[in-house]
Amino acid sequence: MIPAALRWSGDAAGHLEILDQTLLPARLEWIACADVGTVVEAIRSLRVRGAPAIGIAGGYGLAVAAGEAVRAKLSSAAARAHILARGAELATARPTAVNLRWAVDRCLGAIAPLPGDADATTLGTALLAEARAIHDEDRQLCAAIGRHGAPLLPDGGVLTHCNTGALATGGDGTALGVITAAWDQGRKLEVFADETRPLFQGARLTAWELGQRGIPVTVLADAAAGHLLRTGRIRACIVGADRITARGDTANKIGTYALAVLAHAHDVPFYVAAPSSTFDLTLDDGADIPIEERGADEVLRPLGVQAAPAGARAYNPAFDVTPARLIRGIVTERGVITPVTRENVLAMLRQEAR
Ligand code: MRU
Repeated sequence: MIPAALRWSGDAAGHLEILDQTLLPARLEWIACADVGTVVEAIRSLRVRGAPAIGIAGGYGLAVAAGEAVRAKLSSAAARAHILARGAELATARPTAVNLRWAVDRCLGAIAPLPGDADATTLGTALLAEARAIHDEDRQLCAAIGRHGAPLLPDGGVLTHCNTGALATGGDGTALGVITAAWDQGRKLEVFADETRPLFQGARLTAWELGQRGIPVTVLADAAAGHLLRTGRIRACIVGADRITARGDTANKIGTYALAVLAHAHDVPFYVAAPSSTFDLTLDDGADIPIEERGADEVLRPLGVQAAPAGARAYNPAFDVTPARLIRGIVTERGVITPVTRENVLAMLRQEAR
């Protein structure tokens, strides 16, 4: 049983609890977040991570902001201003995954129609209800993604990158949800997980999740993927996404683009799995997606061990963009977009979830 990445404790006066993923797989520890600063820090430090999960954290973070306003005994107007300001902090805690801004905007939208004299407790109750709805819906979205995606995976080797499972979402996951759904249906998969440098989400989190589910997994160094594909052991690649543009260009964990190029070179289908909240239809060209650059230590001191000599500099983009032409299909809760074209993306997003 995989623990939830985050949970709300108590009623609207309660607080958010975040499973500290930086400690996995060694330790299971939750951080109590009673102030927004702690939520923002948890998102920035990847204690909670994965596009859908940070969106859910952003939503609950607004309920935490309302709690701050209650404790500070702010007037109705001041409470609303406080929540809006905290919302801006939450929405920008990480720049690439669009789910974060999407969830914050959706929760703020839930309090917009409330009367101007609604007090902080009333605002907090509405924010918590909306955050809980996003969390619950994500569970269903993951299940639908798994249903639509499972038939795409043939028996044999499947390679994934980063972590896109229960730890990264409110449900069973996106790409990993497809893999586990196919496994549960009896598909004879051999699952390979890129270790996913520099923060090892594949080795630390995906391998742990699959182990918890009793699904055997083989972890490889990211640089071994080319050889694995070249030797014909992979029948499909599937990854998640942090932001997908209208034409299907996809930002995901650094290393995804290299994997897509390799898959293309070896004529292996490369799939992306993501809910509709990961699409950003305001953008068309993936080059316009903001790419988070992170600190040097993550590269120079992997897992806290000094690996490079003092004075070495680091290049540490957290994401890259895979152009739509390298993607065989995008699995959403509404169905599979294939071929990946602007027309097909827009047509799929107009449909209801099924
Ligand atoms: O930096 P991270 O660990 O938040 O990056 C996560 C990813 O890139 C995932 O593939 C993506 O968010 C999809 S999670 C369902």
